[in-house]
Amino acid sequence: EFCKGVNGLDKVILRESRGSSAEVYLYGAHVTSWKNDHGEELLFLSSKAVFKPPKAIRGGIPICFPQFGGLGTLDQHGFARNRLWSVDDDPPPFPTNTLSKAFVDLILKTSEEDSKNWPHSFEYRLRIALGPGGDLMLTSRIRNTNSEGKPFSFTFAYHTYFSVSDISEVRVEGLETLDYLDNLQNKERFTEQGDALTFESEVDKIYLSTPTKIAIIDHEKKRTFVVRKDGLPDAVVWNPWDKKAKAMSDFGDDEYKHMLCVEAAAIEKPITLKPGEEWKGRLELSAVPSSYCSGQ
Ligand code: BG6
Repeated sequence: EFCKGVNGLDKVILRESRGSSAEVYLYGAHVTSWKNDHGEELLFLSSKAVFKPPKAIRGGIPICFPQFGGLGTLDQHGFARNRLWSVDDDPPPFPTNTLSKAFVDLILKTSEEDSKNWPHSFEYRLRIALGPGGDLMLTSRIRNTNSEGKPFSFTFAYHTYFSVSDISEVRVEGLETLDYLDNLQNKERFTEQGDALTFESEVDKIYLSTPTKIAIIDHEKKRTFVVRKDGLPDAVVWNPWDKKAKAMSDFGDDEYKHMLCVEAAAIEKPITLKPGEEWKGRLELSAVPSSYCSGQ
């Protein structure tokens, strides 16, 4: 279902027969809402989010491409999150998603403007699908369409903002004992100790070589988010906490208590594509009552 969202921006609403739903803005190919079959919102979206190009929408799932972070002349987190994507009328076959009837295919191609800062030729196809149980699946396919034999490299993240009841009641499992780069300490490398992660101050870490499954356990809500990923070895964990929250104009002062970003990513080792080559990166999110997860 296509309709108009905030400020007249085009959006697509996906509905699955048991009642779950998702909303996707063509601006940024940005998922702004994902609801379970009880109509409960599972993603965080700031009440101060700006739905106006060229600002990226604060919350949901921004796509960071062709760069995670803010190196060089490219925009922070790349340009994909603040470009207008098109509906892809001729998508390639997606064998793993054939069960889903609720999906949309979007495409972003090289533009003249973007090739000034990033002189490469690409086609980025993104399928966003709701599974029969309400799972949200994002499949990215990025192809080098350069005809002159020039390879390109990129870094990437699905910058997912999860909605949580209270950040101090949240635990993340699957990242303990791993190495990470700490963005708050000049990207220095450390090793995570001990138990599952808990949160009591600002965090901005890039965990390296992470497992394909990460769990975010919200004790108060009795809900566990399960992140499954493929082709995305790294995982960023970010919460701005109070001081950074106050410094962001599109983020409420106290909203940090109700969100946590866990971002499936490829950052430490950039992906390189030769002409004609394609990369695939998949994210699958589910939200289940915590009591259903053994041992959690
Ligand atoms: C995180 C980064 O992924 O995104 C942080 O690790 C950054 O360093 C945050 O502050 C938000 O970025 P932006 O560009 O959306 O404000």
